[in-house]
Amino acid sequence: MTTQEKIEQLNQIAQEIRNFKGIDIAKNCTHVVPGEGNPDTEILFIGEAPGRDEDLSGRPFVGLSGRLLRKTITETLGKKPEEVFITNIVKYRPPDNRDPTPEEIEVCKDWLDRQIEIISPKIIVTLGRFSMAKFIPDVTISRVHGIPRKCQMSNAKWSNIVFPLYHPAAALRAGIMMKAFLADFIKLKDMLNSN
Ligand code: URA
Repeated sequence: MTTQEKIEQLNQIAQEIRNFKGIDIAKNCTHVVPGEGNPDTEILFIGEAPGRDEDLSGRPFVGLSGRLLRKTITETLGKKPEEVFITNIVKYRPPDNRDPTPEEIEVCKDWLDRQIEIISPKIIVTLGRFSMAKFIPDVTISRVHGIPRKCQMSNAKWSNIVFPLYHPAAALRAGIMMKAFLADFIKLKDMLNSN
């Protein structure tokens, strides 16, 4: 697929996300947050759901935790945030930053699967447990963060290396998680450089 075709298909998905009004968070959000970045990237970052700043701007990871994520991408991977692609499991803000519900995750699943297929990244970096659980169910993040694994999606043509990270908001809450988050990013850089 050419870059132009990828952009057109990603725009089409963003339009579908905008048009959909089937659940409350889709009706009540200020802006939808489909995701953004380079459609030809080797690395796709997947977070949980937009927060307040993302809802106001329509862009993923632009609040406090987003600043940490974007700074670490730049400083550790040596890439501008716009050189990778950043999206979320859920494309609308759950009110009061509550966890997304299984229904909200299910509603957004097909859009995310199509984004993954179009971008076909070498590495999917999951941020936090909701994103991790899509690819690696029934594990705790404290046991598997920073350990890459090959994941074949049962209903998809693709398989990817999935690299689970703590969510940057968790890193901001506790020093021990921040240490792990930054150490895992260095592992990610080493993996990218060795491939
Ligand atoms: N947290 C997320 O999981 N995603 C965002 O876009 C912002 C904060």
